[in-house]
Amino acid sequence: MGKRTEFLYLNEEEMIKAGVLDAAHCIDVEVELFGLLSSGDYRMGGDKANSHGIMVSFPKESPFPNMPLDGPDRRFMAMPAYVGGRFNVCGEKWYGSNIINPSRGLPRSILMVMLNDPDTCEPIALMAGNLVSSVRTGCVPGVGTRYLARKDAEVCVCIGAGPVSKSCFEAIALEAKNLKEVVIYDLFKEKAEAFAQSVTEKHGLKAWAADSLEEAVRLGDIISVAASSVKPVNMKNEWLKKGSTIIFTGRCNIDEEYFSSAKIYWDNPRMHEVYYEEHLALPEDKRFINGIGVQVYRMMYEGKMAPLSEAVGLGDVVVGAKEGRVNDDERICFITSGMPVWDVGWAYEVYQNAVKMGLGTKLLLWDSPYLN
Ligand SMILES: NC(=O)c1ccc[n+]([C@@H]2O[C@H](COP(=O)([O-])OP(=O)(O)OC[C@H]3O[C@@H](n4cnc5c(N)ncnc54)[C@H](O)[C@@H]3O)[C@@H](O)[C@H]2O)c1
Repeated sequence: MGKRTEFLYLNEEEMIKAGVLDAAHCIDVEVELFGLLSSGDYRMGGDKANSHGIMVSFPKESPFPNMPLDGPDRRFMAMPAYVGGRFNVCGEKWYGSNIINPSRGLPRSILMVMLNDPDTCEPIALMAGNLVSSVRTGCVPGVGTRYLARKDAEVCVCIGAGPVSKSCFEAIALEAKNLKEVVIYDLFKEKAEAFAQSVTEKHGLKAWAADSLEEAVRLGDIISVAASSVKPVNMKNEWLKKGSTIIFTGRCNIDEEYFSSAKIYWDNPRMHEVYYEEHLALPEDKRFINGIGVQVYRMMYEGKMAPLSEAVGLGDVVVGAKEGRVNDDERICFITSGMPVWDVGWAYEVYQNAVKMGLGTKLLLWDSPYLN
């Protein structure tokens, strides 16, 4: 007789009851996870154990009638990780993204998270992942704000008015204690206006929708970029204020002059080294086109900046091994592409709460494995 295996299924409502939306707690969990990134007590996929994940992409044209075709933000992605420390768990975020989904009443991306015992490999939980992912993504700028932004930052600018941008703002608002004003820019002004209205209602802050990217960016002490790649977000060095902190959660281009003069921090330089190598393996005309830090990679490739081996990760700042902001004048850029370490870490925290609260449905994998 083999071993019975059950795991917990948690739907989105149960995830909410278990605290997935608790951004303040998620920021603290991420601070711990940044510590693990700094010490190296984690593994991700690939031969360097630092791969963001593996993507299924689609061709521009296909002879097969059912095969999906390429488009902006069109992909499936598998993102596995082991998270050490007190977490000691393996897991994976798996999602698909299709930009036309909102017109079908669905989010652009639909995500699930699986957790596994790192020793027996049995599943522990299968969970609705959209809120795990959006909250963990948003909370990274919260950690960035805590360690890198000016303490007296008053104006937060949000570029993009989608769910990720909203999550980023919620976490920034928790950490930027002197925030007075929120300026939002989206290609669709009505989306920015609706976001602004919800900010005013929820936080009692002055919030409004800007007419142009420039108008918004020029005002920002903290600038959070989380727009999809429908149209590139192109900024100019001269728009960014002294002392500003810009957080790239989505792709953003700025004149090279900016990157040469600003201080740059990365969510995980080791992961970006893998991304960089992946770009080098592409044909010349396809390199450094897609991805969140690609403009900086290109500058490194052209010898205009120090390589990623010398780049500073926020984890090293969190544990006190490297300096964060040292004065109120320096301009800082924090580049975060996201990684499954955060999905798995935050999902495990929420799972543990769910178990304590008796939430979820136990599903049977087998009473005894057929093949043993
Ligand atoms: N770094 C990470 O960890 C991480 C994790 C998840 C998602 N993301 C990225 O965050 C981005 C936003 O995700 P989402 O789910 O909110 O997407 P979404 O498509 O639901 O919303 C994005 C919003 O950005 C706006 N937009 C697009 N181009 C713009 C531009 N040039 N200027 C201003 N606004 C623009 C769109 O109109 C839309 O309202 C995506 O690119 C996604 O890849 C990053």
